[in-house]
Amino acid sequence: MKKITIAIDGHSSCGKSTMAKDLAREIGYIYIDSGAMYRCCTLFCMQRGLVNPDGTIQTAELERLMPEIHVSFRFNAETGRPDAYLNGVCVEREIRTMEVSSHVSPVAAIPFVRAAMTAQQQAMGREGGIVMDGRDIGTAVFPHAELKIFVTASDEIRAQRRYDELVAKGEKPDFNAVLANLRERDHIDSTRAVAPLRQAEDALVLDNSHMTIPEQKQWLIDRYKERIED
Ligand code: CDP
Repeated sequence: MKKITIAIDGHSSCGKSTMAKDLAREIGYIYIDSGAMYRCCTLFCMQRGLVNPDGTIQTAELERLMPEIHVSFRFNAETGRPDAYLNGVCVEREIRTMEVSSHVSPVAAIPFVRAAMTAQQQAMGREGGIVMDGRDIGTAVFPHAELKIFVTASDEIRAQRRYDELVAKGEKPDFNAVLANLRERDHIDSTRAVAPLRQAEDALVLDNSHMTIPEQKQWLIDRYKERIED
């Protein structure tokens, strides 16, 4: 059977990665979390002191150091999902902190950062058989993907999901700070000049505000089967 390309885009913390990962496992495809790649670039900026006190990024220095950023993924049998590695070091935990979340959107808006990550993502998906989630997968990375999904949910529900996730990892987040961060990221992601977050014209929309994880998983498997039968 021909292996297709599946692009899952949408707002921050709406459960895209859970859906994408579950589908990939079910159908034997590769799963790539493109947001993790931008988070790795952000962690690199933090480690190298490239984040100014006002939150702006030292772009000239970052551009010079870009060739030193190597992001890769390795499957973690314990969690059943790939862990992100920055220059050979597992940074799965570090990249999910609120601190990285608060700097990632400005980093991801930098055109040369996007160009580098997009090229890597396209190389990963060259053979098809991939589920990739992010903001611009159906519009910029794989505009010819056979199946495109655009996921959303209400702000409060998304913030609650992210809050619960952080608590489960041992962080002590402030709910209002989580909500403010996701609104701010949505704003920056949707208004940036290069590859802004928007729904591709041929994407199917899913509002999963009131869906359970098994329900959204089934919804996505059904869409995949429909597309494969076409
Ligand atoms: O987990 P969450 O949905 O909150 O975010 P993420 O998927 O980990 O992405 C983190 C950030 O990376 C986003 O807020 C965007 O600024 C950026 N991103 C992007 O610009 N393009 C992508 N394809 C994926 C993520």
